[in-house]
Amino acid sequence: MLRLGLNIDHVATIRNARGGLLPDPVRAAEIAQASGVVDGITAHLREDRRHITDRDIERLVEMLNIPLNFEMAATPEMQAIALKHTPHAVCIVPEKREERTTEGGLEVAREENQLAHFIAPLKEAGCRVSIFIAADKRQIEAAHRIGAPVIEIHTGAYCDAHAEGRFEDRDRELARIQDMANFAKSLGLEVHAGHGLTYDDVTPIAAIPEIKELNIGHFLIGESIFIGLDHAAKKMRAIMNEARK
Ligand code: PXP
Repeated sequence: MLRLGLNIDHVATIRNARGGLLPDPVRAAEIAQASGVVDGITAHLREDRRHITDRDIERLVEMLNIPLNFEMAATPEMQAIALKHTPHAVCIVPEKREERTTEGGLEVAREENQLAHFIAPLKEAGCRVSIFIAADKRQIEAAHRIGAPVIEIHTGAYCDAHAEGRFEDRDRELARIQDMANFAKSLGLEVHAGHGLTYDDVTPIAAIPEIKELNIGHFLIGESIFIGLDHAAKKMRAIMNEARK
């Protein structure tokens, strides 16, 4: 079955806009867990702590029964935090202070040795390490060489092309994601995907048989303002199930 990971970062974005404690991203995780349709919670502890905080991570580790996917940059500080909590999964993402969101995939090919050393202790501690990359053969081969068991393919370019009505670009991006998911699986990698997915564009991605997990955040948190998080997650789950039939 295709797993759904809910990224709760943007509940924290709203909280932090005012300071204080509300809305509580851990409550979002509780609701998602209780919905029965969410298979894991994703949270990105950014270097600047602009949304999720260290305390949020501690509380998630304490309360979650479903897996926590801890997204982080490849820095010594984040590695120490991951080793302290040993979440089920760690997803390594590129991070730039000035960006609004994770804009591209990690340049694994350029930093192969460094990344191989970086992920080794995380793997040893039992975390399932995934590397967030573009649908690019060079990056996939490099992720495989450094010993990552999982890759997450960045779907942002596909989603942007869909949203902007650039359908030729969208279809080219989709074909690339399909090909690269197939290639990654042929190397023995587990394939995840995410970034920018909505009800409107998720179907072709969810239909790719090699993809085992989708991580979706911004759209579902936004949608939950209107219809509630439980309902929003269930609707996404239904679309994913339909795509997989
Ligand atoms: N996967 C990864 C690795 C991400 O960095 C993000 C965004 O934080 C997502 C998935 C979810 O993207 P979105 O919030 O656009 O759904």
